[in-house]
Amino acid sequence: MKGSRILKSEDKRKEEFMLPGEKKYPHIFSPIQIGKIWVKNRIKYASTETNYNYSDGFVSEKELAYIEAHARGGSGIVTTQGAYTDPRGEGQGYVGMMGIWDDKFIPGLKRMADVIHAGDAVACLQLMHCGRVGGINLPYTVGPSAIRQRLRRFRPPQKMSIPEIEECIQEHIDGARRAVEAGYEIIEISGIVGYLISNFISKYTNWRSDEYGGDIHGRSTFMRKIVEGIRKEIGQDVALGIRLCAWEMLDDMEGNTEEESMQSLKIAEAAGCDYISVTVGWQESLGSVISRDIPMGKWLYVAERTKKALNIPVSMAYRLFVPEIPEQAIADGNLDIWEMCRPQIADPALPNKIMWDKQEDIVPCVACQVCLARLFRDAPVTCTVRPSCGHEGEREWGYYGFPKAEIKRKIFIAGAGIAGLQAAGIAAEKGHDVSVYEKTDHVGGQWYYASRNPWGEDSEKYWDDQEFMRWVSHMKAQCDKHGVNFVMNTPVTVELLDKEKPDSLVIATGAVPEVPDVPGVDKPHVIDMFDVFTGKVKLGKNVVILGGSGAAISLALFVIDKVEKDGIKDFSLAMIDPASRFGADVNPSYIWRYRLRLRKAKVQQLTYGKVKEIKDQAVVADWKIVDRKTKEKQEFKDQEVPADTVILATLVPNHNLGYGSFTGDTAMIGDCVWIRRGIDAIQDGFRLGTRF
Ligand SMILES: Cc1cc2nc3c(=O)[nH]c(=O)nc-3n(C[C@H](O)[C@H](O)[C@H](O)COP(=O)(O)O)c2cc1C
Ligand code: SF4
Repeated sequence: MKGSRILKSEDKRKEEFMLPGEKKYPHIFSPIQIGKIWVKNRIKYASTETNYNYSDGFVSEKELAYIEAHARGGSGIVTTQGAYTDPRGEGQGYVGMMGIWDDKFIPGLKRMADVIHAGDAVACLQLMHCGRVGGINLPYTVGPSAIRQRLRRFRPPQKMSIPEIEECIQEHIDGARRAVEAGYEIIEISGIVGYLISNFISKYTNWRSDEYGGDIHGRSTFMRKIVEGIRKEIGQDVALGIRLCAWEMLDDMEGNTEEESMQSLKIAEAAGCDYISVTVGWQESLGSVISRDIPMGKWLYVAERTKKALNIPVSMAYRLFVPEIPEQAIADGNLDIWEMCRPQIADPALPNKIMWDKQEDIVPCVACQVCLARLFRDAPVTCTVRPSCGHEGEREWGYYGFPKAEIKRKIFIAGAGIAGLQAAGIAAEKGHDVSVYEKTDHVGGQWYYASRNPWGEDSEKYWDDQEFMRWVSHMKAQCDKHGVNFVMNTPVTVELLDKEKPDSLVIATGAVPEVPDVPGVDKPHVIDMFDVFTGKVKLGKNVVILGGSGAAISLALFVIDKVEKDGIKDFSLAMIDPASRFGADVNPSYIWRYRLRLRKAKVQQLTYGKVKEIKDQAVVADWKIVDRKTKEKQEFKDQEVPADTVILATLVPNHNLGYGSFTGDTAMIGDCVWIRRGIDAIQDGFRLGTRF
């Protein structure tokens, strides 16, 4: 099924009636038929667990408001989060996961389907038994075999008996029946990332020798019986799809080969699926799959292979963050449906904004994985770049826009970092007279520098990872749209405040590298980390970074990447910091990979470190190395670490602003309060903005 052929034969609209984005991305905005269901465009909001629902599985008002935002956002298909199918809770993987194991859930699920239909989207309900990553409230999990978990968060699986397997199949079928009764046009089964169906399909977790085990056909029996059973139950009028892994990335655990995975997709098609949503990787895979170090579009080859092997539409998410990539893939016949999860968590209205070609209005996901990290901490999903996430139904959070303020205020914001930009954007949207003073020549603060990070060996980009800057540019565009006055290369001074007399002053001056009080700190080879990112200073061959937080690790990655790319030999890099372990503030999705990279590059991590002196060619320090397993300690006193470049990389709040005689309303936001992550700075700016 080639996308371009469908466009010609099925899109009857005249060009003059098309919106600018529809003209620009004609394949994305062409309709598609799935089974007997027609969908207005090729955009599918992917299933997203949120932890917003009640712990007994009933749909919450919060979830309904969240889904409504997606339904109104322009996607052709809106998929619900996975619903667990069994009354025992073995399938429940998240504390706020919705249930579909009894008819009592139908009214709530129907409200959700109604909300989706009211937004002019097709309603797709996902059934999801979490298998070895389920049983959130139980002392065990279930699976085809009792194969231990690699992830310590989850309980060990118990082997399911044949009657238990049959009961579980029937529970999926009953769940599908309830979904149809609730009004959904598409039923989707989730069989990915380590959930139960994938546990049966994989060689890694299925060691059975009965009809549910053995070769890939035997291991797919559980999935096949669910698909066949649901198809029989729901008939042909409702579409049926499945999410399956096309590559498990579990070669180290003797998981399925890519050929075996492809076989399982073919079995699903033959069993009666109307579409396949293909995925890559398990939660237990060692490699990155959807984090920022994976270039956008990297996994499209998987969709392409699936398209070649199957005859039903193929959908795929996974780092397809900008429309150009899926537009081309659909045009080339390598993909049918552009599925998205995180880009639409960050902005549920993304499809409409693309349709109007207003891409500067899209709140871009920065692939930070905070949403996922929250799920695994039993917390409701929040989003770094969109503080209104999960509050779509609460007017004061402004998802559908902020009301104008009754009294217009003159607001000065010192600092155009992410906190300052966020506060400025909202205050200006509310009608205030906002000026942002920035002492450098660029906006974005630390994200300006962070955007210069290299993102791992697979990255095709170097020096110019702009994902953080996509959000900065978006927020700057919003500020411009609402009339914020930017005064660059100009710090806020006492004289300025005395002269201009703003009603409110917002201090958003961010962070600066700490200058330690040790002899030699004023030597010329002691430099500021930000000057390294911008390439203002040249590095020597023996570099010492003073710092161990996420920012210092980003710097270390930047340095080793640059050194490797420049082919510099005999290079040494050490990090010294008082912390017992470096990078404790970094998202778990990223830190393990960063640590691996540091180890590979032989970066010395001198923990419990205390710098005593900086000499011309060395840093004198004490440190202690503690073996994490044996707890064995090695102490080092007054050691000289070779250093012809010393980079100051411990960030401290920047309080370098005189208030003078200013007596107006004053607030501090972001890192100048204390050093935290990007999400905290944006939240600070957002909360303050809403208060104005
Ligand atoms: C917070 C969160 C919750 C998710 N919940 C589900 C789920 O319930 N069912 C499912 O099949 N996939 C789930 N996924 C996976 C996404 O649907 C999607 O496949 C993945 O995020 C990659 O797509 P993206 O790069 O567009 O985010 C979830 C992902 C995230 C980030
Ligand atoms: S929390 Fe981060 S990864 Fe998740 S949607 Fe928001 S920006 Fe994207």
